Amino acid sequence: MKKSKFNKVDYFDRYDRIMQFNKNKDSYIHGWYPFVEGYSKEFIRSIINELDYEPKHCLEPFVGSGTTPLELQKLGIKCSSFEVSPFMYTLAITKMETSYNTIDYELNLSLLNESLTQTIEQDIETILAPPNFRTIVEKPGLSKWNFDKEVMKGILDIKHAILNIRDNRYVNLFKIALASILLDVSNLYRNGKCLSYKKNWDKSKLTRRQVHEIYLNKLEAVFYPDIVKLENCSNTHELFSNKNNCILGDVRQNISHIENNSIDLVITSPPYLNSRDYTDSYMIELRMLDYIKNYKELQEHRKKTLRSHVQIKWDEVQPLDIELLKLAVDKIKEYEDQFWNASLLNMINGYFEDMNILFLNLFNKVMCGGKIFFNVANSAYYGVEIKTDEIVAEIAEKNGFLINEIREARKIRPSSQQKDDINYLIESVIVMTKKG
Ligand SMILES: C[S@@+](CC[C@H](N)C(=O)[O-])C[C@H]1O[C@@H](n2cnc3c(N)ncnc32)[C@H](O)[C@@H]1O
Repeated sequence: MKKSKFNKVDYFDRYDRIMQFNKNKDSYIHGWYPFVEGYSKEFIRSIINELDYEPKHCLEPFVGSGTTPLELQKLGIKCSSFEVSPFMYTLAITKMETSYNTIDYELNLSLLNESLTQTIEQDIETILAPPNFRTIVEKPGLSKWNFDKEVMKGILDIKHAILNIRDNRYVNLFKIALASILLDVSNLYRNGKCLSYKKNWDKSKLTRRQVHEIYLNKLEAVFYPDIVKLENCSNTHELFSNKNNCILGDVRQNISHIENNSIDLVITSPPYLNSRDYTDSYMIELRMLDYIKNYKELQEHRKKTLRSHVQIKWDEVQPLDIELLKLAVDKIKEYEDQFWNASLLNMINGYFEDMNILFLNLFNKVMCGGKIFFNVANSAYYGVEIKTDEIVAEIAEKNGFLINEIREARKIRPSSQQKDDINYLIESVIVMTKKG
């Protein structure tokens, strides 16, 4: 195998666990919602600690659950960010809000509780209809459904109670708390790329009141202690927030809002080239919280996402002029008659074209000497490995960045179809600098 032209460094011991969000599942504010595809706050801290300058303005093009701007705001560092999913955007800005306090929290919580006590007496579905998707709730003629009838009533009670709240900060907070229990009370679990039915999903039955209790317990055990802590912090010093620096929308379209040469640090992790559509993985949250109301809105949303999946038919794209990419594409093409989706090659080419668009823009936004920490993972289709780390490094280099090194961070298991040919895929962090 040809040796890489880039300097690859073994970071398996230093990075492995901190590349996973799971490490923060019980952490202050980060733990409000269990996000699978993120990295940890420790990863952000490790970058700040190793820099030989004090960053003033960071950019996070794919904010996800908000790990980067949230951790940076604790250090008083400005971070501009983008997120295409309205759910992820709400999650990120809710976590970045710093003006919560216990008095307002308790006041709004008592309004919420009052409403829950009143609606339990009523037929909630006549007040608030369940989202209009075929299998979302138990009904005659369905063999499987996402939520049992009583569970849906419990969720609608909570949604209705949130509608009574006037303070937008607490509307968002209570929505995120609801999002954080949705899968637990549903018949589904997140199974890699999609949602699958839990084992014995049709056996365990929750009552409407039990759904309220799970929700209220979550607020009390997870959210309230963090609000107390946040309030204590704000009593001792003024808290800085990156909330207003987060933009909802496609970064490819919106990055023009960032001033040229104003960024001295980029920390990010784009969607991986693994044909996973975040819209599918977070469908329950998008539907139940009314971010996506019908199929048309779903497709419109998908069109704005990075081309890392085949859930939408993208325009025909030619591969970039990069030898490693062309070799991989040619090899995968040999399996064309077995493709599980005809758009597979076009997705691969589109993904790297998106990377090119991103780096073209980043070159204008990053100032000379500014550093980028870019977390990617390699992929495999039909036993052919796509070395995303090296291809992205080459794209960045062509756009004017100096590649310092590729840090090999973690070995990830390939999908079951690839296991016979490929033992593991590497997840890495490409470190680069804008030459000055
Ligand atoms: C790997 S996640 C980021 C995780 C994040 N670093 C964290 O720790 O939470 C990638 C995110 O990119 C978002 N995304 C996909 N296409 C996008 C686009 N065109 N513009 C902005 N965000 C996009 C996805 O919705 C997803 O939330």
